[in-house]
Amino acid sequence: MELTENALKVLHARYLLRDEKGVCLETPEDMFRRVARNIAGAERLYGEDASYWEDRFYELMTSLKFLPNSPALMNAGKSIGQLAACFVLPVEDSMKSIFDTLKNAALILQSGGGTGFSFSRLRPRADIVRSTGGIASGPVSFMKIYNTATEVIKQGGARRGANMGILRIDHPDIIEFIRVKRREGELTNFNISVAVTDEFMEALKNEGEYNLRNPRSGEIIGSIKAKAVFNEIIESAWETGDPGLIFIDRINRANPTPHIGQIESTNPCGEQPLLPYEACVLGSINLSKYIKTEDRGQKTEDRIDWDMLAEDIKIAVRFLDDSIDVNIYPLPEIEKMHKGNRKIGLGVMGWADMLILLGIPYNHKRAFEFARKIMKFIRDKSKEASEELAKKRGVFPNFKGSIYDAPDMPKVRNATTTTIAPTGTLSIIADCSSGIEPLFAIAYKRLVLDTELYEVNKYFVRIAEKRGFYSESLMNKVFKKGNLKGIKEIPMDVKRLFKTALEIPPEDHIEMQAAFQEYTDNAVSKTINLPNKAKKEDVEKAFILAYDKGVKGITVFRYGAKKGTLVKIADSD
Ligand code: CDP
Repeated sequence: MELTENALKVLHARYLLRDEKGVCLETPEDMFRRVARNIAGAERLYGEDASYWEDRFYELMTSLKFLPNSPALMNAGKSIGQLAACFVLPVEDSMKSIFDTLKNAALILQSGGGTGFSFSRLRPRADIVRSTGGIASGPVSFMKIYNTATEVIKQGGARRGANMGILRIDHPDIIEFIRVKRREGELTNFNISVAVTDEFMEALKNEGEYNLRNPRSGEIIGSIKAKAVFNEIIESAWETGDPGLIFIDRINRANPTPHIGQIESTNPCGEQPLLPYEACVLGSINLSKYIKTEDRGQKTEDRIDWDMLAEDIKIAVRFLDDSIDVNIYPLPEIEKMHKGNRKIGLGVMGWADMLILLGIPYNHKRAFEFARKIMKFIRDKSKEASEELAKKRGVFPNFKGSIYDAPDMPKVRNATTTTIAPTGTLSIIADCSSGIEPLFAIAYKRLVLDTELYEVNKYFVRIAEKRGFYSESLMNKVFKKGNLKGIKEIPMDVKRLFKTALEIPPEDHIEMQAAFQEYTDNAVSKTINLPNKAKKEDVEKAFILAYDKGVKGITVFRYGAKKGTLVKIADSD
């Protein structure tokens, strides 16, 4: 296998099997074999040839064309056996539920999964507690307990614990929630998002008010100016990156199984809306591997190996569907829910690399068009694959009453098939750009699992050599700056092709997110980067634009924003 030094470091640090003394017991090939064998074991349940599929899965992973989410690589074939990255757990308005869910979250965390929670059902601070005659402490105080528990558990866990905390915009404690991460050191193991309703967005547009409701009694406790709350969100997001927004009504309009329940939260990085107790297995196709020819004379479409992509999507869908059957679930409720809806999330990584190889700048009109084309292809092929599986294995058990239970809809085995994950670690293993993000820098040092990794973009080096402007002194300049701006030896077209995240205006980041969202069942992980000098109005503009463009949620990140809260939970932890 061809693995970079960085990939090997990551695999050695967290993925490869070890004995009790910490001695490494497998090579990366052994790891992929372990994963392929474990997952293909599901084929036997359907009377299929497991060893045939084991080899297909092994080839797909070792060619680095597809990787499943980290827990699958870490846990498959081991006694822990937990393969999913994404979970949502319910938090009901009772001490019992709050602490039962905390325990359950701890079990998920231990297995390398991340959990999202909506705290919207908890009664507000200072509300009555009938059983004790006391007063309630409110959602934010319970989130702090969850955060501390995560801090302790992560010491022994496989990776840094990631949580998503959601509060509805109409919860009486919304201002406290919005402000909480402004204080350094608060909720460091949480990404937080406000669940924004259409009612709120309407009030905002009309410069009006909206109602706050006590979730315990359903009582309207007052109304508040939408703009005043929005300003608080903008202030916090500008300062710290949190909270993000999730457009909860839009998410529920796309809920494939409304008869099973309402969606109230996403997983930690926002790409996977789920019902309470639901899980999802993710996997990502490495798009940089599907360029047939680098000959720029040919039409973009003709340079992609569509046949290989179609074939690999089929195998990947089968892999993800199989992994539901062999997964060892942390809780029976989760097993029931995941096996009922059988949600899988196939997405992409290496998108920025693909564009570079095609010679298309990340924020060129052609890039947005091509994003739609690629993602539509993946969605269509993944649905076909799911339909094909359903013919032999049956539709997902909760099919009746779902949105697919209609004459002109495909009879599918999976309630969802597509999700765009951040691929924070997967992209290091596969040596490609992460998710659908542009390059963050052309050359940089990054801290992965306490090790400093040095990287210069391999495509840039290649072009520099080919076009004859490579030199040590030039590379030193690039290293110092991180980007190519103002370096006069570098031709204009190369500068345009290698634009980094901060050189791309926020509206173009959103446009790319929207392009992929259009053909994605679940959601799209995307950071909307803003330069340090961005103003609060820029954050406001980005939020409104995101809503208007039809995405399911948005997180902004202003470069160099407040330290301590700066690192969003995602990459390579
Ligand atoms: O690349 P990898 O599969 O490791 O993860 P990712 O694509 O960056 O993140 C996918 C999902 O894994 C996140 O949305 C979380 O649900 C979960 N995750 C986590 O639980 N803990 C982390 N430190 C990173 C990711």
